[in-house]
Amino acid sequence: MAGRDASGSATRATSRLRGDRINPLRDPADRRLPRVAGPCVLVMFGVTGDLSRKKLMPAVYDLANRGLLPPGFGLVGFARRDWKDEDFAKVVHDAVAEHARTPFREEVWEQLLEGIRFVRGEFDDNQAFERLAGTIRELDEERGTGGNHAFYLSIPPKSFESVVSQLKRHGMTGYDSSHWSRVVIEKPFGHDLESARDLDEIVGSAFSPESIFRIDHYLGKETVQNIMAFRFANQIFEPIWNNHYVSHVQITMAEDIGIAGRAGYYDGIGAARDVIQNHLLQLMALTAMEEPTSFDAEQLCAEKTKVLAAIQPPEDMATQTCRGQYVAGSQGGERVRGYLEEDGVDPHSRTETYAAVRLTIDNRRWAGVPFYLRTAKRMPRRVTEVALNLQRAPHLPFSDTAALGTNAVVLRIQPDEGVTLRFGAKVPSTQMEIRDVTMDFAYGSSFTEASPEAYERLILDVLLGDPPLFPQHEEVELAWKILDPVLDFWTESDTPPCDYPSGSWGPSEADEMIARGGFAWRRP
Ligand code: BG6
Repeated sequence: MAGRDASGSATRATSRLRGDRINPLRDPADRRLPRVAGPCVLVMFGVTGDLSRKKLMPAVYDLANRGLLPPGFGLVGFARRDWKDEDFAKVVHDAVAEHARTPFREEVWEQLLEGIRFVRGEFDDNQAFERLAGTIRELDEERGTGGNHAFYLSIPPKSFESVVSQLKRHGMTGYDSSHWSRVVIEKPFGHDLESARDLDEIVGSAFSPESIFRIDHYLGKETVQNIMAFRFANQIFEPIWNNHYVSHVQITMAEDIGIAGRAGYYDGIGAARDVIQNHLLQLMALTAMEEPTSFDAEQLCAEKTKVLAAIQPPEDMATQTCRGQYVAGSQGGERVRGYLEEDGVDPHSRTETYAAVRLTIDNRRWAGVPFYLRTAKRMPRRVTEVALNLQRAPHLPFSDTAALGTNAVVLRIQPDEGVTLRFGAKVPSTQMEIRDVTMDFAYGSSFTEASPEAYERLILDVLLGDPPLFPQHEEVELAWKILDPVLDFWTESDTPPCDYPSGSWGPSEADEMIARGGFAWRRP
C-alpha cells in the first residue's frame, strides 16, 4: 500500500521498492501517471487455444500500442506444436491483425516481434522446461527483462499441477526483492469447493499468495469497476441502496451465441459453474458489499468476502433454482441446432446452458431482498446488466397508472455500456396519465476514451503486480459454498434440465420461479 507523507513522495518511493503499486483511485497526486509495466517476460501456456488467440495476444499488442509495455519485454509461447519462433510469431501476428482493439502499427509490431520466442514441449517433459528456463534466461540478457517473469496458464485445470511443479523444479518460481515470478490462472477455479482447495494448494506449493493472480475477466471490465464508482463516488444513490427501497435485484448475463465449438470445455461444466460461480457472484458482491476503506486488494477482498459469506444458498432448491438446455430454434433469423446436437456434446448430456438462482443476503442492508441471478446461452440478445428494482411508491394519486412499472437503477455492463434510471413521468395530454421513462448515461456519449478490453487491464495489472481486480482464494471458496448445494441438488435430481428454444428468454419454469416472488424477468 502506498503511504503518504507530507510531500507524498518518500513513502511512494519506498512502497515501489517493496513491489507495491500506487493505486490511482486512491492517490490523487498520481492519477495522471501512466501505469507502464516494468521490464519482464510473459510466458503463455495454452497458446493454441481460442482465449489466447482472441483475447490474450491481442491484449498484449494493444498494451504495446498504447505504450504501456516497456522496450524490455518478451513474450514466450509454450505448446506441443512443432513450431519455430517465426511460426509462433505468425500466429500472434494473425491474432493481433484479426482481433486487436487498436489499429495495427508496423513499428509497434516490429518491437514486439524482437521479444517473441517459442518453446515446444509437453507438460511432463523435463527437457522442454529446461529449454523454457534457458529461453527466459536468454531473453533476460538480450532484452534486459530483469529476471521478472509472469506465467499465464490458459490451460485446463487438470494440467495445472504438472506445469506448476515443472516451473518449480526448473527454478522459475522463486522471487526476491530484485525480481519477481507470478502465475496467472484462468477460471474455472476447480469444479467445487474441494477441488478449488486442491487447486489452491497445488498453485500455493510453488507460488506465494501475492504472486498468484486469478483471472475473472469481468473484474477487468470498465463497467464492472464503475459499479464501485457509481456507488461510492456519489451521494445520490446510497440512501436507496438497501431493503427500505429495493424490492429485488436481477443480475443477468445473457449470450446469443451457443457453446461456440467449446464442447470439450463446456459439456459437464455448464452455465452455473462457467458463469454464476465467478462473474455473477462477483457482480453481486460489488453491488451488495459495504464501502471498502480503500481500493487496495486487501480492503476490497475484505468487503467482498464479508458479503459473500452472508449470501445464503436457495432455501428451497426445487422452487428457487432453474436449469435449462437450449433446443433447436431460430436465432437472428437463422435456424440453429440444439445443445445436444452440437459437435462434441454427449447426446444424453444434462449440462445446463441456462441457470437461474434466487439468493438472499443475511445482513441488515439486504435482509428480505431477493437477488435473482441468471445466465444462458442462445438468448435473443447479448446483454449483461445489474438491475435494482425499487418498491412501488406507497401511494399513487393518479387515475391512470396502467403503464407504470416500478423505479429501477440498471447498471448496463455490456454491450450498451452505461446506466439507466427508470421512473414515471406524465404523458403529454389533457389527462394525468403516467408512464415509465428512462434517463440514460452512455459511455459512448459521455467519454471520448474508448474502454480498454478487460484483458488489457488485467494483463497490465499482473505485470505491475497490482492485485485489486483479482479474486482472492477466500472469495473463490465462498462462491463454491453458495453454489455447491445447487449443483448437488441438480446432480441428484431425477429431472433433466428444462428445454428452451434457441432465441427465447429461457424455460417457462424460470418465469414461474421468479413469479413465485411476485416478480417477472426483465426483457432487456
Ligand atoms: C467466459 C465464459 O468466462 O465468459 C464463456 O467461459 C462466456 O462461456 C464468456 O462466453 C463471456 O464473456 P464476455 O466478456 O463476452 O461477456
